[in-house]
Amino acid sequence: MQKTRLVTGIRPTGLLHIGHLEGMLKNTASLQDKYECYPFIADWHSLTDVADTSNLPEYTLQAAIDWLSAGIDPEKSTLFVQSHVPEHAELSTLLTMVTPVAWLERCPTYKDKVQDITLREGPSAGLLEYPVLMTADIIVYKAEMVPVGADQIAHLEISREIVRRFNHIYGEVFPEPQPMLTEASGLPGLDGRKMSKSYGNAIQLSDPPEATQQNLMKMVTDPGRVRRNDPGNPDVCPVFAYHQIYNPDEIPQIDKDCRSAAIGCVDCKRNLSEKLITKLTPFYERRAKWASKPKNVREVLADGARRAKKVAQDTMAEVRSAMKLA
Ligand code: TRP
Ligand code: SF4
Repeated sequence: MQKTRLVTGIRPTGLLHIGHLEGMLKNTASLQDKYECYPFIADWHSLTDVADTSNLPEYTLQAAIDWLSAGIDPEKSTLFVQSHVPEHAELSTLLTMVTPVAWLERCPTYKDKVQDITLREGPSAGLLEYPVLMTADIIVYKAEMVPVGADQIAHLEISREIVRRFNHIYGEVFPEPQPMLTEASGLPGLDGRKMSKSYGNAIQLSDPPEATQQNLMKMVTDPGRVRRNDPGNPDVCPVFAYHQIYNPDEIPQIDKDCRSAAIGCVDCKRNLSEKLITKLTPFYERRAKWASKPKNVREVLADGARRAKKVAQDTMAEVRSAMKLA
């Protein structure tokens, strides 16, 4: 029986962090037996945010290493880089012809970016067309499932509209892709705010485990707990959010001991840092292995692109014929 096809992308705008690992990376790895998975690195999409491409090769490589270390098996899944499969761009161009500009201008992520006064020349045409390229990424594989974060749901809504319009005009070529909501990890940054590379509060996956342990010891705690004897409130403590994921068995105990001030924050963090490193040891071991052999990673990506291209080329032949371009 043919497995349902699934496509998901990540933009290499920076190094990935532990929130990505506990959210999308592990999620994709967990789906690869049930689905035929095409995880890819959306390097073209990253250009809508950053014009400076000096770090792009490194970020792309590191993202591939993170995905492999999170458990993506290159035998089972087709891991590749978007720009290695130019069929995405060809399909995107054709899709722009059936996409009203008004749909794209109405897109909430686009509207937010347009408000951004730091874009001195105004938004690029590429930014406006972001959802069209994203649609091409998905349907060039005729994928039906698309694991994404909540912020991408509006894009997929546009994807489905584009597919409906295309199929209506040129015949039933594409299935309508469905979003599969990926739960956010719920892990805050070291300062308690949302984890983000731009806040400088992220725990990066490429950091050595020792550096991560040191970072964890610096994490903010319940701001109301000033002295060791003050009772704490785990509900507002970022460290507690990490215990939920990396130390679930001790949650009731820590909750109690924090509220009664039976434990101090330093011990609580030390405990977390041990549990976290233990849980992530398989990840760190795989990561060290892949990171020491960048040539092998590039081979995996080249092979992935070859396999992806095969599928994409078949779709493009069908598209050209449906559009009488052949
Ligand atoms: N826009 C997605 C994000 O920023 C990345 C992406 C690009 C993507 N193309 C895709 C995700 C296709 C799913 C499918 O998260
Ligand atoms: Fe947070 Fe632990 Fe300190 Fe409580 S004891 S405030 S949960 S670090």
